[in-house]
Amino acid sequence: MAVVIVVGAQWGDEGKGKVVDLLTERARYVVRWAGGANAGHTLVVDGKKYVTRLIPSGVLRSGVTCVLGEAMVVDPTVLVDEVRAFRAQGFLARHEDLVVAARAHLTLPYHRELDRLRDERPDNTIGTTRKGIGPTYESKAARIGLRVGDLLHPDRFRLQLARQIEALLPQLTALGGAAPDATEIAAHYLALGQELRPYIADASKLVHEAITRGDNVMFEGAQGVLLDIDHGTYPYVTSSSATAGGACAGLGIGPTAIDTVLGIAKGYATRVGGGPFPTELKDATGDLLRKRGNEFGSVTGRPRRCGWLDLPALRLAIRTSGIEGLALTKLDVLSGLERVRICVGYRVGGQTLEEMPLDIDDLAAAEPIYEDLDGWPAPGSADTPPSATKAAARFVARVGELVGRPVWATSWGAGRAETILTLDPFASADAAV
Ligand code: IMP
Repeated sequence: MAVVIVVGAQWGDEGKGKVVDLLTERARYVVRWAGGANAGHTLVVDGKKYVTRLIPSGVLRSGVTCVLGEAMVVDPTVLVDEVRAFRAQGFLARHEDLVVAARAHLTLPYHRELDRLRDERPDNTIGTTRKGIGPTYESKAARIGLRVGDLLHPDRFRLQLARQIEALLPQLTALGGAAPDATEIAAHYLALGQELRPYIADASKLVHEAITRGDNVMFEGAQGVLLDIDHGTYPYVTSSSATAGGACAGLGIGPTAIDTVLGIAKGYATRVGGGPFPTELKDATGDLLRKRGNEFGSVTGRPRRCGWLDLPALRLAIRTSGIEGLALTKLDVLSGLERVRICVGYRVGGQTLEEMPLDIDDLAAAEPIYEDLDGWPAPGSADTPPSATKAAARFVARVGELVGRPVWATSWGAGRAETILTLDPFASADAAV
């Protein structure tokens, strides 16, 4: 048995869903610990595309229980839509296929509205997903939050709803928002609560019991380590803990239970929204990566900013999440380029840095130092598939060497068959038993 945490090692959108989906072949539980409907995991199975926003990527495997952990923020309007859509396609057939933590906080319609109104202000440069993530975590920290379990207690729900609206109304009206209709919201949310009733449980306890039984458990990160509220590129971050430690805090599972941490990074870098991005390519190569990699937000449709692979950023992710092995995804997107660049360090104020600085001014001033490698041919342009060329192998090996971690997986396309796994933490744990 093994307990594995998988984190995105960049700014999100690393293709985690695909790798997690593959690893879930042996997992019994796939657990999300933070964030909410701001995430969007794209999975392609048998040529069909599925996007999940709240439900973990294990949803397409029968016999896997998907868990939404306590530190998540859950928008029940999104969750119910997602549950209905997956059930209609034959997934989540049993109630035990999905667990939603009773203590996860609820995103209310006015959290989304506040997020949108703030984001629309010209002085706001963060560029959120407008899914109400920040305002929901604010309510949680201010201890005026409503939780998933409250949906099953109508009187308590209505009372707390009235309190929360009273607390947030001044902010809403100051930004030009309308006063929320508590009666309408309560009727809508309590009805959604009835639909979610079979799934609502103590997720922490359930995952703990699974670990004690010896089941394979995978914690699936949403967003990426660089968006972590404490260890990311603040203030251009999300409002939750995206580092591996967040999985332990989020589910109330002790760090001693974790066997390994796997980081996922693309062969290049992207970010959505504002904030410094030292290796950003504002030229034809950047456009090419965006087009080839379909780098448009799966939740918001926004074009993602694209750039070369940034090892100082990856080193920060490795250090703050204790990443032991790496998966490199979307290497097919780089195919056909004559040369491929890797940022191996930064120059900041006359100093050379190996790891990304988190002072926002230093980061904005960072000049990337590049190493150039030979590119590999586009698919079909040579006898050898791109993944089997010397140049591609050299790129993968060089990344591993420069960050001091083995590369466990490489991915060369969206489908399951296009990911090459050289070490499966669940399989090796099973073999060791
Ligand atoms: P929020 O999480 O909606 O508050 O957005 C805060 C910042 O995190 C914005 O720059 C978003 O673009 C970014 N962000 C949040 N979730 C994701 C994600 O799943 N992928 C990529 N960026 C994200």
